[in-house]
Amino acid sequence: MSAPHDTLVRNLFDRIAWRYDLLNRIISFRLDSRWRRKAIRALGVAGRPALVLDLGTGTGALALDACKLLAPGSRVVGLDFSRSMLMHAKDRTSRAGHAARAAYILAHALAAPVRSESFDAVMSAFVLRNVGDLGSFFRESYRVLKPGGRMVSLDMFPPPQGVFSRLYWFYFGRLMPWIGGVVSGDPAAYRYLSDSVRAFVSPEKVADTIASAGFVDTRTVRYLRGAICLQVATRPR
Ligand SMILES: C[S@@+](CC[C@H](N)C(=O)[O-])C[C@H]1O[C@@H](n2cnc3c(N)ncnc32)[C@H](O)[C@@H]1O
Repeated sequence: MSAPHDTLVRNLFDRIAWRYDLLNRIISFRLDSRWRRKAIRALGVAGRPALVLDLGTGTGALALDACKLLAPGSRVVGLDFSRSMLMHAKDRTSRAGHAARAAYILAHALAAPVRSESFDAVMSAFVLRNVGDLGSFFRESYRVLKPGGRMVSLDMFPPPQGVFSRLYWFYFGRLMPWIGGVVSGDPAAYRYLSDSVRAFVSPEKVADTIASAGFVDTRTVRYLRGAICLQVATRPR
């Protein structure tokens, strides 16, 4: 994606970082942590120490859950280009007593400053809509994964047309930006988040892009009638 788009996204997350965790819990009725735990279980590294990369780690919600749920000896690297989001991630991880298991890097997800084939698993949550160039995102995920490693992505998608979708858009298109605006003082940021879901592609299109990056065994698990999807794929050996 273009540099102006990256700057817009980075500035937005820098601005809302201080309220991000609280608003996530309010807006998702705390369901977000349940989906994150499912994403971690899908990494396929249970019972053995693993090195895991979290692209677009934000305030470290997924990275921290991984520190708690993965086998002893596992390590998590969280990467993000928003300095403020990372500051919260580091603070939150130390407060939870997991500083020794996690490291955070300030970097662009499409140019991760890490060696090729060095991670047992790569994960991301609610990042795809901000990245723009999905092909590059999945090619970069593929590059850093060891052969046989899994890539897991959790994200929001426009739900299929129907009664649920009308209710969803009333909530996510109208109420959520209003609540987000009141709590964070930044209505434009929460309008962007809602608009970015409305304009996003289908899970099928994302699955095709994942496969084009070289992954195999791509599967999509749908929650909330497809408004949330967990996508899992493997780098072949
Ligand atoms: C919606 S937040 C999700 C944070 C976290 N994964 C979670 O589950 O709460 C999206 C995060 O992705 C980061 N991000 C978006 N595009 C990025 C890019 N190209 N490189 C690095 N980080 C990026 C943003 O700065 C933001 O912290």
